[in-house]
Amino acid sequence: MGLMIEAIRRRVSVRTYAARPVEEDKKLAVVDLFRANAAGPFGQPVRFALVDFSEMEREEVRTLGTYGTIRGARMYIVSAVRDGRGAMEDLGYCFEKVILGATSLGLGTCWMGGTFRRASFARRIAASEGELVPAVSPIGYAGDKRSVMDRLFRRFAGSDARKPWDELFFDSGMTEPLAREATGGYATALECVRLGPSASNKQPWRVVRQGDGLFHFYLKRTPGYDRMVRSTDLQLVDMGIALSHFELVAREDGLAGGWVQAPPDLDAGSLRYVLSWRAA
Ligand SMILES: Cc1cc2nc3c(=O)[nH]c(=O)nc-3n(C[C@H](O)[C@H](O)[C@H](O)COP(=O)(O)O)c2cc1C
Repeated sequence: MGLMIEAIRRRVSVRTYAARPVEEDKKLAVVDLFRANAAGPFGQPVRFALVDFSEMEREEVRTLGTYGTIRGARMYIVSAVRDGRGAMEDLGYCFEKVILGATSLGLGTCWMGGTFRRASFARRIAASEGELVPAVSPIGYAGDKRSVMDRLFRRFAGSDARKPWDELFFDSGMTEPLAREATGGYATALECVRLGPSASNKQPWRVVRQGDGLFHFYLKRTPGYDRMVRSTDLQLVDMGIALSHFELVAREDGLAGGWVQAPPDLDAGSLRYVLSWRAA
């Protein structure tokens, strides 16, 4: 199995961390991931900072603000992206690649777009006027037992389940489910889109295949969800995550291609077109 496919299958939100510190060489490897993942398909610059709170007192770390969702974390990845077209998708795409890299290093993470105090983290990355700070993630070794809050969160979001293939992937329109045999080798790439994390586990991605090697990515918005979190659009971040999974797995499976703006002439109802993959 390829490294990224394995990381996608293994990744899970970790909200409870062990006291074991992260080794210096692993911290450096994480910072390397930041440098390698600074650009997404829409071209908005993305940057990251590794914030280490190891020297701080427990009380201070607590006040940093994750509203009690994260337990025991001493380090965080903070992200910033230049505001503009495709910023949320680019952020999701780049940050997920960092998260999968961290997973490969044996480290736990948790996407957080809602339950953190934005202003205090924005200061840590010295976000400028034109930048947004859509998400952060704790990073460290997973604790061996999930906290009560962690378990409640998972149950509330239904984190252990994913929508079935037939509800996500379609052929030549929005009604006909896509047969696995008709994907032209992209079945694993799509399966890995399906396994991805999403805000509140809403899984808003939909993909329509149109002819050989052309896959259109759409956002099916959860009603009211865009207003739940101010200033950032988490479901577009989810779309960026889906794009990264598809591309990473396609490349690992030796399928050449790239992202294009090619909105098809089909009735997508209220779904929002995002981007298309075209096989080379
Ligand atoms: C964009 C985004 C934002 C998220 N925001 C939060 C958050 O604010 N707090 C939190 O505890 N989990 C958050 N999550 C984690 C999701 O709840 C989690 O990915 C989903 O329930 C699936 O569970 P899994 O990651 O363990 O597979 C977020 C995930 C994504 C992709």
